Amino acid sequence: MQLTTVLKGRRSIRRFKEKQPSQKMIQKILEHALWAPSNVNQQPWDVYVVTGGKRLQVVERIKNIKRHIKTELDKEFYSNPKIIRLTLNFFENLGNAPVIILVYIPDFRQNVCCLDSEKKLIELSRIGCIQSASALIQNICLVAHQEGLGTCWMTGPAWAEQEINNVLGIEDRELVAVIPIGIPDQQPPAPPRKSDKLHWIGF
Ligand SMILES: Cc1cc2nc3c(=O)[nH]c(=O)nc-3n(C[C@H](O)[C@H](O)[C@H](O)COP(=O)(O)O)c2cc1C
Repeated sequence: MQLTTVLKGRRSIRRFKEKQPSQKMIQKILEHALWAPSNVNQQPWDVYVVTGGKRLQVVERIKNIKRHIKTELDKEFYSNPKIIRLTLNFFENLGNAPVIILVYIPDFRQNVCCLDSEKKLIELSRIGCIQSASALIQNICLVAHQEGLGTCWMTGPAWAEQEINNVLGIEDRELVAVIPIGIPDQQPPAPPRKSDKLHWIGF
């Protein structure tokens, strides 16, 4: 597949088939994705790939935060109850995805400092790490699509970050995204893209 075809064809998948992709396939996807650029090549991410009983526990923790998500959705999408219903359904079981990928960065939120210059430095480091992790996440979603697998980049589950970390035994890390991955069981239409986002100056 051409890169442009992959870019346009990737969709957020929210329903998956039961069959679990092989560990070899997921490893291949991740090895390619790890070629993402990163802040001074720090590669500041940690990637956890979860299946089996631990997956069920993570899903359960995410399901428990539906009420927070509903409050946010009610505020933003009050005119579109269908979106609210679909999104909440997805939080119920992550579309039965057989595998969940979680991407973490070091936790800068624990740093306590007083000087403005120190605060700025920490903020910039955190932004660099989040942007690096985001490049990795996008790579995962794109390579997975190229290999016939579906993904959904999710930040909503961060509401349950502490609970998820307890299940996985993770400390001193910030959860950037949760990515259910598996064989797609749907072909969602492409949500339209906005046409007023490019600003040309001096052309
Ligand atoms: C940073 C980020 C966070 C997202 N969080 C969620 C989420 O919590 N739940 C969800 O269902 N989709 C989530 N999405 C997926 C978006 O809803 C989706 O990318 C968007 O609607 C465009 O659809 P497409 O990915 O099929 O092109 C997220 C996407 C991004 C980039």
